[in-house]
Amino acid sequence: MSEEKLRQDITEICHLVYRKGFVAATDGNISVRLPDGNVMCTPTRCNKGFVKPSDLVVIDMKGNKVRGERKPSSEMAMHLLIYEMRPEIMSVVHAHPAGATAFAAAGIPLNKALISEVVLAVGCIPLAQYGTPGTPELTDELKPFIAGFDALLMSNHGVVTYGKKLEDAFNLMDTVEPFAKISIYTKILGKEIGRATSELQSRLHLVCR
Ligand code: 13P
Repeated sequence: MSEEKLRQDITEICHLVYRKGFVAATDGNISVRLPDGNVMCTPTRCNKGFVKPSDLVVIDMKGNKVRGERKPSSEMAMHLLIYEMRPEIMSVVHAHPAGATAFAAAGIPLNKALISEVVLAVGCIPLAQYGTPGTPELTDELKPFIAGFDALLMSNHGVVTYGKKLEDAFNLMDTVEPFAKISIYTKILGKEIGRATSELQSRLHLVCR
C-alpha cells in the first residue's frame, strides 16, 4: 500500500475516532508501519477531528524524524515498542474513550467474560500500571502485556489497540469502548452474569489469548 493511501487512511480514521468521541481536544495518536520499515504517525498536540494528510510525520524505528513539518506524537516510544515486539503489527491506535478510560482510572481491568463477541474479538483487556505518558515508565509497564494482548488499558490514562491493519486496530478500539460501557451498565443494573472465560471459550470453540 502506498504512503499516500496510508496518509489518507490515517486521516480518515483520526476523523472517525474524533467523531465517535474516543478522543477529545488533542488526545490520542495513531500510527502505521510503512513498507520501508519507517512509521507514519500523527503529530503531537493535534486535534484528530481536523488533522490533514500533510500533518502526518514519518519517523524511523529509533524515533528520529525522517520527514514532515510537525513534531511527532509524544507517545511514539509506546508505538515503537509495540512494532518492535510484534513484527506482524502494522498499526497502533491510542485513544482516551470515556468508558474504557473510566476503568483505567478506577484501576479495574476489562476481564469479565460478559459478551461473547468481545471474548471472540479481544479476549480480555488487561490493565497496565501507571506510567506517565511519553516516559520510559509507561513503556516499562506495558511491556509484559504486549506479546499476549492486542488491546491494553493504561492506568489513569487511556487505551491502546493494535493490529495487522489500521482498520483492525481501530475496530479493536471500537470493540473495547462499547464493552466498557456495557460493563458499566451491568454494574448500574446491579447484576453481571459473567461466564468463566473457559466456559465461554468451549461454547464458542475459540482460543482466548
Ligand atoms: P500527543 O499529542 O503527543 O500525540 O499526545 C496525546 C496523548 O493522548 C497523550 O496521551
